[in-house]
Amino acid sequence: MGLKSLVVRSVLNTLPVIYFSKLNIFLFRLLGFNISWSCRIYASVKIRGNIKVNISENTFIGDETVLTGGDFGEIRIGSHCDISDKVSIFCGTHVIDSRPLSKRIAGKGIAKDIVIGNGVWIGYGALILPGVTIGDFAVIAAGSVVNKSVPSRTIVGGNPMKIIRSI
Ligand SMILES: CC(C)(COP(=O)(O)OP(=O)(O)OC[C@H]1O[C@@H](n2cnc3c(N)ncnc32)[C@H](O)[C@@H]1OP(=O)(O)O)[C@@H](O)C(=O)NCCC(=O)NCCS
Repeated sequence: MGLKSLVVRSVLNTLPVIYFSKLNIFLFRLLGFNISWSCRIYASVKIRGNIKVNISENTFIGDETVLTGGDFGEIRIGSHCDISDKVSIFCGTHVIDSRPLSKRIAGKGIAKDIVIGNGVWIGYGALILPGVTIGDFAVIAAGSVVNKSVPSRTIVGGNPMKIIRSI
């Protein structure tokens, strides 16, 4: 971790979670993440790894939500989304290395981009897996494991997620 990153992340860790949203956005932008000034992002949000992040206007991201991945994947989040607390959005995974002489099953790290549309609501504690696209105005129920793409205007829930109904 570079010195700038260390300092910025230390400042974020000391800030009160739900205040100073503009300061939080300033600090995340210093780290290279492209977040609209009109967003509301809690200081406890963690954005980790060698990833590109784009978040459009008026999106909210709550307490202890994590955006992570590796190998230069991208997480793109539209406008007017509500992403609750303790949501995990990760665009990194591994090739399964089942060769007989391989010492670890989690092989080469790879990235699969994640795209979240506009006006989406993601409930508490959901997991959004690599490569998923979530359509506009979809609702992800609390605790869901989203391992497939979600059509627009659809409520999904469960592990693995199933369609609950269209809206
Ligand atoms: C997705 C949600 C909005 C659905 O609410 P709803 O339209 O009132 O739906 P219902 O409670 O009538 O449930 C409809 C079906 O979805 C299922 N369901 C609801 N929530 C679910 C969940 N979290 N995981 C899996 N299935 C769920 C219900 O069991 C029901 O299934 P059934 O028809 O087989 O009985 C709501 O359950 C939810 O998860 N809200 C998020 C809450 C949250 O995260 N709050 C944090 C602050 S943002």
